Amino acid sequence: MTDDSLSTHLDRATLEPDPAFTAQANGTQDMYAAAEADHEGFWAEQGRKYLTWAKDFDTTLDWSQAPFAQWFVGGELNVAYNCVDRHVEAGNGDRVAIHFEGDQGDTRTITYADLQREVNKVANALTELGVGKGDTVMIYMPMIPETVFTMLACARLGAIHSLVFGGFSAEALHTRINDAQAKIAVTTDGQWRRGKPAPLKAAVDEALEHADNTVEKVLVVKRTGTDVTWTEGRDIWWDDVVPGQSDEHTPEAFDSEHPLFILYTSGTTGKPKGIFHTSGGYLTQAAYTNAIVHDVHPETDVYWCTADVGWVTGHSYIVYGPLANGATQVLYEGTPDTPHQGRWWEIIEKYKVSIFYTAPTAIRTFMKWGHDIPDKFDLSSIRVLGSVGEPINPEAWLWYRKYIGSDKAPIVDTWWQTETGAIMISPLPGVTTLEPGSAQKPIPGISAEILDDEGNPFTEAEKVGYLVLTKPWPSMLRGIWGDPDRYRDTYWSRFGPKYYFAGDGAKYDERGNIWLLGRVDDVMNVSGHRLSTAEIESALVSHPKVAEAAVVGANDETTGQAPVAFVILRADAVSDGEDKDALSAELRGHVGKEIGPIAKPRNVMIVSELPKTRSGKIMRRLLKDVAEGRDIGDTTTLADSSVMNLIKETLGG
Ligand code: WT7
Repeated sequence: MTDDSLSTHLDRATLEPDPAFTAQANGTQDMYAAAEADHEGFWAEQGRKYLTWAKDFDTTLDWSQAPFAQWFVGGELNVAYNCVDRHVEAGNGDRVAIHFEGDQGDTRTITYADLQREVNKVANALTELGVGKGDTVMIYMPMIPETVFTMLACARLGAIHSLVFGGFSAEALHTRINDAQAKIAVTTDGQWRRGKPAPLKAAVDEALEHADNTVEKVLVVKRTGTDVTWTEGRDIWWDDVVPGQSDEHTPEAFDSEHPLFILYTSGTTGKPKGIFHTSGGYLTQAAYTNAIVHDVHPETDVYWCTADVGWVTGHSYIVYGPLANGATQVLYEGTPDTPHQGRWWEIIEKYKVSIFYTAPTAIRTFMKWGHDIPDKFDLSSIRVLGSVGEPINPEAWLWYRKYIGSDKAPIVDTWWQTETGAIMISPLPGVTTLEPGSAQKPIPGISAEILDDEGNPFTEAEKVGYLVLTKPWPSMLRGIWGDPDRYRDTYWSRFGPKYYFAGDGAKYDERGNIWLLGRVDDVMNVSGHRLSTAEIESALVSHPKVAEAAVVGANDETTGQAPVAFVILRADAVSDGEDKDALSAELRGHVGKEIGPIAKPRNVMIVSELPKTRSGKIMRRLLKDVAEGRDIGDTTTLADSSVMNLIKETLGG
């Protein structure tokens, strides 16, 4: 998988910014010092530079109720106006906002003027359906323009959207709908997956079967022509209510701290956290980072972020950041290998994509497929490459640069989280001397440190500690929906109330660059998606044949980590001759149904015991050794030291 020639031609000089790039870059070296000298002043400047306020703010930051922040206090704005209308007013209505590429090869070009009309129609339709300021709208949709229209229509009305990734199950949808008390759900009949239609609305129907649901109407976009069951009075076709609406709508200005969206992410317990973001601060940092980190120049660039809108990357770097900046972007519905393994590169060639943002797991997959696939396409338009979601290993970094970046494009490895709302740690293209594999340093306006076990900051190279953020930032989460205590406990207590604990391990190298080392809690990262071991364990235990389950995130060449499950069966529910392979498959399917296909364990190992400490805590570290095929580490704290031998025996190891 490694290409030995990759690193040979690379030295510090080739990693230093190209002066021609620097000359046109949005980010500058001076910004670091300016932000350091006056943190709030710096952000106030960005707030006014990147956004149009209906009413200017009077206080940049109110941290008096820490850890509950208020940014740009007193300011009023409409987020959708900032992402759409103002570009039309500035004379850029004819600029393409979205080049849509459908899974079926269908395309659609949407200018900013088109976007304004579409968003207005949806806003008018939602109003007719009873959606207003502060209502929650559940969005369960694929990567199609209507999804973007709906998000912006919510923002326009001051309604709070809550997207659930289309790969999540009905059960996952049900918990999220309930937690957010959604009033309306918007979905599609089905979604295209590798050229074939798959039902989508069916999961919404199933989720709403629970008696306690709050959803009054389900708005359905026809996308695949898939048969749907219909609940009269509740279900409404998009085509029956949206196209006939007026394409005009006057946006109202909302408070800077008005909620914009809720997005669920996995925590260390089984219950997902509704991460909640507000308007002015979030949009400021989304736009600012898209400008200085991706170096978007809206007049000339074609930008493409391959994330799904159902994740935070899609929120900040498909919808809010690029559209606030008036950028032109590609929106792609399909998968990288349909109809062929060069599909992404074909799209880059077709639209002359100049800024490309994707995840290491995708890059590693392309490495496996071989560089002769991208070699067949003209990728010379690329001038910035981005990476997000998990650490990018240096081999993947070098491959990405050489074969996708024509050996010249700077790569920005961007560290952030659903909670941080926008990029926090990353090189700035044109400014930073790049270090393959490292996210390098906090961007201007952001402060991070690495702490040891006792909570003391250190700067020694190669010592491993915990990443913390030391100053509030505009796009920070404002809390966990409906659970202020959990917000405080999860992020602001591990090292006291001064430090935001990110949950990631980190170290400095001898140049002072930060390397992110993965989660330090019971959260794993599968293809850049966050999953909690507890959530998968509880899905497994909900199966009638399972007595107990332990799940670990094992290293995986392609996906970064993969869930591996160890289960103990219920003696009364299984027969002696039970076919273990069939049962493993059944349990994997069960997890897929409970959470979603991404959570399906790579392996389900059926064991008779689990390793536990004397206090009854499962020692996942030892199971990880087994799952990763290593010698088993220290077992002295086990209550019963023979357990690991038993496990090895049952697994034939
Ligand atoms: C976790 C956040 C940020 C949007 C996508 C994931 C890991 C993210 C990097 C990176 C190393 C990274 C961290 C973080 N992560 N980006 N560039 N280098 N690790 O958002 O689902 O909220 O997950 O993803 O572990 O805590 P998320």
